[in-house]
Amino acid sequence: MFKKPRGTRDFTPEEMQKRKYVEECMRSTFGSFGYKEIQTPMFENLELFTAKSGEGIIQEIYSFMDKGGRDLALRPELTAPVMRFYVDKLQMEPKPLKLFYFGNCFRYDRPQKGRYREFRQAGCEIIGVDTPEAYAELIAMAYTLLKNVGLKNIKLNIGNLNILSSMFNVLNLPKDKQKCLVPLIDKSLSEDVLSALQDFGIKPQEATSFLEILQTTDIKKISGYIKSDQTALDELSKLEQILNLLRDSFDIKNYEVKISIVRGLDYYKGIVFEIDAPSLGAEKQLCGGGAYELISLFGGKETPTAGFAIGFDRTILALEAEEYQFPAPKIDVYVIPVNEDMTGKALEIARTLRERGISVDVDLLKRGIGKSLKYASSINAEKAIIVGLNELKEDSMTIRDMSSGEQKIVNINDYPLAGQRI
Ligand code: HAM
Repeated sequence: MFKKPRGTRDFTPEEMQKRKYVEECMRSTFGSFGYKEIQTPMFENLELFTAKSGEGIIQEIYSFMDKGGRDLALRPELTAPVMRFYVDKLQMEPKPLKLFYFGNCFRYDRPQKGRYREFRQAGCEIIGVDTPEAYAELIAMAYTLLKNVGLKNIKLNIGNLNILSSMFNVLNLPKDKQKCLVPLIDKSLSEDVLSALQDFGIKPQEATSFLEILQTTDIKKISGYIKSDQTALDELSKLEQILNLLRDSFDIKNYEVKISIVRGLDYYKGIVFEIDAPSLGAEKQLCGGGAYELISLFGGKETPTAGFAIGFDRTILALEAEEYQFPAPKIDVYVIPVNEDMTGKALEIARTLRERGISVDVDLLKRGIGKSLKYASSINAEKAIIVGLNELKEDSMTIRDMSSGEQKIVNINDYPLAGQRI
């Protein structure tokens, strides 16, 4: 017996129904913000990802050599591919360019609930604008996408990598020591951050105030800490403008400043944000993104870029954890021929109804009315149509409402009546 590879999943029709529902909902939200859908290949040249995505991603990459000796990789994410596409074909498009995508990604990670080796992302990139309004709209869209699919309990955190690096400068920490600290900050390991700082020769009091600022949500305190760094102060006031816009113009209030957001990918610069679903426990991060720089590295003309990706699979898990009632799979009509002679006519009726925009299934097992009605309820058919000899003579058919059991005879040509759905 064959087994599927570790960290991959099969999806039943019921699961696919949920996934399609969530995907359609997200697609229409992206569209409502003026974003256009694109698609890129499932595999790329390996170098595209080793250029700048960072150690974490490189260790997890699925790479292979093809028969022509080319080094390729299954994509671990879509930002680098979209930037490659932009530099190659889309640089002349009017700005800002707003692109969104759905795509499966591959990471050789340790599988657990919410963490897979093949997973799906819904993401977007905005190219050519770096105003606070653009960032506020981007973050608001991420939040709205998750709200619109039906999630109730989500938490938005916003940080800025330039501010974090200015905090490192306050301590005069060299780059290699910053690099050691970043994973500890990422995992919110406060005690470990403190002891690492002390190992680096930072005085206990200075280490404690660094940690305090890392954990504060108060912009004034952060500004007091980095007071001599004008660039970081400018970034901080930009962050404040973004927060005000989110609150006033987008009516989003459930957010916090979190300077300790470091993100797992190396291309980010400046504003970064994450959205968590607290109900998910360890793998609670639903969405991550921010401003980044890749275009000039890929040979394009420097222009601001930002974006985010939502973990599609985690979104479904979060909805299930909130006991969200997904719409049940259903079909409009199930057509039942009363006997074998009626099968041809049943198929013909099914075809006519499909042409009228109705979803139809037909009894193909010739199993009689009783069993067929039972099957019709199991597939959640709204109506059953029974095709018998008597009715046919008059070009009519019996329609049964599957929830009330009520039956009536209607003329085939009159079904459904104008203005009625089925
Ligand atoms: P990321 O944070 O690496 O960012 O991934 C985005 C989301 O994908 C995560 O928040 C998480 O929900 C989901 N995810 C990541 N790894 C897994 C996994 N192994 N199993 C299930 N879900 C997972 C990026 O990928 C950036 N490209 C986002 C971006 C777009 N930044 C700018 N533009």
